[in-house]
Amino acid sequence: LTNKLWGGRFSGSTDPIMEMLNSSIACDQRMSEVDIQGSMAYAKALEKAGILTKTELEKILSGLEKISEEWSKGVFVVKQSDEDIHTANERRLKELIGDIAGKLHTGRSRNDQVVTDLKLLLKSSISVISTHLLQLIKTLVERAAIEIDVIMPGYTHLQKALPIRWSQFLLSHAVALIRDSERLGEVKKRMNVLPLGSGALAGNPLEIDRELLQGSLVCQTQTNALFTSCFSAFSAVELLSVATLLMIHLSKLAEDLIIFSTAEFGFVTLSDAYSTGSSLMPQKKNPDSLELIRSKAGRVFGRLAAVLMVLKGLPSTYNKDLQEDKEAVFDVVDTLTAVLQVATGVISTLQINKENMEKALTPELLTTDLALYLVRKGMPFRQAHAASGKAVHLAETKGIAINKLTLEDLKSISPLFASDVSQVFNIVNSVEQYTAVGGTAKSSVTAQIEQLRELLKKQ
Ligand code: ARG
Repeated sequence: LTNKLWGGRFSGSTDPIMEMLNSSIACDQRMSEVDIQGSMAYAKALEKAGILTKTELEKILSGLEKISEEWSKGVFVVKQSDEDIHTANERRLKELIGDIAGKLHTGRSRNDQVVTDLKLLLKSSISVISTHLLQLIKTLVERAAIEIDVIMPGYTHLQKALPIRWSQFLLSHAVALIRDSERLGEVKKRMNVLPLGSGALAGNPLEIDRELLQGSLVCQTQTNALFTSCFSAFSAVELLSVATLLMIHLSKLAEDLIIFSTAEFGFVTLSDAYSTGSSLMPQKKNPDSLELIRSKAGRVFGRLAAVLMVLKGLPSTYNKDLQEDKEAVFDVVDTLTAVLQVATGVISTLQINKENMEKALTPELLTTDLALYLVRKGMPFRQAHAASGKAVHLAETKGIAINKLTLEDLKSISPLFASDVSQVFNIVNSVEQYTAVGGTAKSSVTAQIEQLRELLKKQ
């Protein structure tokens, strides 16, 4: 036990299965580099506080550099006794520079160390995720700009509702995602605070210059050391919450496209690059990419739920339970990184089948317009709605489409119908009515595109 960082007061050895359960190195070794960065900054602060001499500082820094090299070359040898990344790096430092290594942890706790490491790593992970997310949003927006003239049926309750521009559909997803991007920015801002120098809970007793630490690690200092000790878990929850919402948005997009890609709809065809086949049925081309995106939403939410459950009922400050947060966030970071790139790939290679969309633009989509026609002639909307409903019923009993009713048929429902009613049954006219902000008229969709382009520049 003497080789354990905390072995001094122990006389018995740790149970081997307990050792396995306790070990987090398999997961947290991805913090190797940030752990070294944190230690370098801390060593400098120790020197400034007079705990390390200049020579000792240099030895520690060059030892840490060597360890960093070993990690980046993939030659660092993890030992079974390495409990976690912090223990592993410090063990190696001692091997390289001897007992001076033991000075590095003066006044530091693994509590402020691990929180610092996680924050530093997540800051850069969020940047990577944000870049992929912005790429996806951009792809949606630019596609919307190019295909602005394509019109399709819009659905509510998955039933045909009103004709809309395909771009209106694409932009609806872009708008949801840009809000997620803003949320990620907020999380990153709060990730940018520095726990180092907080110790285990009481702070640092060695006049450590936290501003120096802050400067080296480009963060703002986190106040209240006791809060800091369990801080990363709350940051993890924040990130996982935003990630969950983002994944739910992606799942909605995926589900929409899965439906649109069925033979029954045939609005879109997925590129081969994002589809797979069936081992039995040769004709199959399955939208697996979209199904995976949809399922990963469940996975990400599961990770959030797991961390929330760990936190529920936990007292203040560090408890070993908190070790669990890292596996959750790392998994979510990896999932998002892959999912966002696949989603961008799917959208940029998607083929749209305009003819099928046009074929699906059946006249009943214009029944609301028939009511609006009467409204424009002065009829109250409720009455107009009923009159248009009667026209639907009449067309149904006659077994014809609503636009095939004669003027006489319509006049039998309301005398306000006149020959200009024929203009109602025009899909482009219908869509072009929706000029108010957010609507599906070309002018309004163009304005949405402009607005999103502006927002993208600010992210
Ligand atoms: N491996 C631990 C974790 O990830 C590091 C912190 C250990 N702190 C402690 N007081 N035992 O949570």
